[in-house]
Amino acid sequence: TPTNVLEQFRLGGKVVVVNGAADGIGLAVAEAMAEAGAHVALWYNSNDAAIGKAQQLASTHNIQAAAYKVDVSDATQVSQTIDKVVNDFEKIDVFVANAGMAISKPILEQTLEEYQKQMSVNVDGIVHCAKYAGHVFQRQGFGNLIITSSMSAHIVNVPVDQPVYNATKAFVTHFGKSLAREWRDFARVNIVSPGFFDTKMGASPLCVNEAYRMSALGRQGHVKEIKGLYLYLASDASTYMTGSDVLIDGGYVL
Ligand code: NAI
Repeated sequence: TPTNVLEQFRLGGKVVVVNGAADGIGLAVAEAMAEAGAHVALWYNSNDAAIGKAQQLASTHNIQAAAYKVDVSDATQVSQTIDKVVNDFEKIDVFVANAGMAISKPILEQTLEEYQKQMSVNVDGIVHCAKYAGHVFQRQGFGNLIITSSMSAHIVNVPVDQPVYNATKAFVTHFGKSLAREWRDFARVNIVSPGFFDTKMGASPLCVNEAYRMSALGRQGHVKEIKGLYLYLASDASTYMTGSDVLIDGGYVL
């Protein structure tokens, strides 16, 4: 690790995978990694704008970038896509497990399918990605997993009714902490817990108003304001950090 702090933040030569990379936080994270010099694999599910974005990042930053279509709730697709990435990029330094979704309804109004959908993306999706990336990390002898959880893992954020979503995030936070121990010999694992950000997920008037009313900063975060945290966790500036859960919420959970 370089002693110069700005050097520590450079990602030149590293390979970073980001899922949920077509939109919102994931796209901002993929941009941050490319801007810091990393090669990036953008995983997307339905929004194939990720393909053009990968091409644009490659030419703007003179890095290797590619887009992969994968449903993270499908273990086979995740496993096969991890293999493809290793084949294309030769290694994985950092995996950002970011894809997620929420259904905002009281539990008494949720169908079984709605419950299962949230579990399959937010819980199964993280477990599959962590597990198959973890095999690569173990084989390589190095690796770095960053999980996007939520402040909803810490608090029940009234008035948004998201009982299942909240619980899925509590799962992934504690899962990530557990992996920090399990993988202590070869990989770091950290968790980011965002508050209200101005993405598709955070676009509802309820979220916008709640951020305005209740966060210390009195507004939602812009995705450009989360890039630095992921860069820090991905970089050699954070080599002593593992098992941490970092809130970035404009002072909502106080
Ligand atoms: P977003 O809706 O813009 O992005 C979510 C991404 O996940 C999309 O790219 C979507 O295609 C992908 N995704 C959904 N289901 C998938 C599947 N089955 N397979 C692969 N990809 C799938 O929302 P945002 O805000 O960027 O969300 C990113 C992460 O941040 C999520 O895990 C979310 O729970 C978390 N988060 C967001 C907050 C916010 O206020 N925006 C607050 C706290 C956490």
